[in-house]
Amino acid sequence: MTKRARIVAGNWKMNMTYPQGRDLTLQIVNSLQPSETVVVLCPPFIHLQNTYTAITGISNLHLGGQNCHEAEKGAFTGEVSVDMLASCGCKFVILGHSERREYFGESDTLLAQKIDRVLEANLTPIFCCGEPLAIREENTQDAYVAEQIKNSLFHLSADQLKKIVIAYEPIWAIGTGKTASPEQAQEMHHYLRSLIAKQYSDELAQSIPILYGGSVKPANALELFSQPDVDGGLVGGASLKAEDFMSIINSSNKALDA
Ligand code: PGA
Repeated sequence: MTKRARIVAGNWKMNMTYPQGRDLTLQIVNSLQPSETVVVLCPPFIHLQNTYTAITGISNLHLGGQNCHEAEKGAFTGEVSVDMLASCGCKFVILGHSERREYFGESDTLLAQKIDRVLEANLTPIFCCGEPLAIREENTQDAYVAEQIKNSLFHLSADQLKKIVIAYEPIWAIGTGKTASPEQAQEMHHYLRSLIAKQYSDELAQSIPILYGGSVKPANALELFSQPDVDGGLVGGASLKAEDFMSIINSSNKALDA
């Protein structure tokens, strides 16, 4: 079976002043051990340069942006381009987070453009998908998430798609303390893989890391990460406390060893 990358990404969202972010990064840098888990810090833009300096030379620690604009550059006040992210040392970019979709009106079509831009710049998109509570209650989450994936990713060639990381983040589990059960996560991840297998190939589907996000915490990480199709996590709230984040990374290492 293809060995997929194991990834734990911390999405700080709009949290952490400059000194707070610097402290958090240093705590992580000081406690991180070499392991097969790829750790990605996704702080707000103002932290990128400093975080990059702090993590340089640590082979399993990388930097990611939380968003980027779809254009290469230009008159887009307040926006950040993917080339800017790359020039600050970013290897990853979160795209399509449900908060971007909901509060900033990001559509599947816009996200398809952003995906193209990020791939052109040779960065790895962490593409988020996931259903709201009403859809889960109707039990139509598979069709809902399938649309997101088809509309934003299925224009890619197989060679392009294999450079993507997917994060399944049920909206009802984000920041709510309510986590999808390991079975619910596994079921959706398996379904996403089957969609990719049908459109592309089983080999490609088996090679794409699919992360779970939504109230991942030290108490539930190991069980979630032990599911066969869950390849790590996109962590919000718990990535703001070094101790919790480290514990989640350790759970990923344990799941790998098991
Ligand atoms: P949470 O956020 O861990 O705070 O639920 C996850 C995310 O939004 O990426």
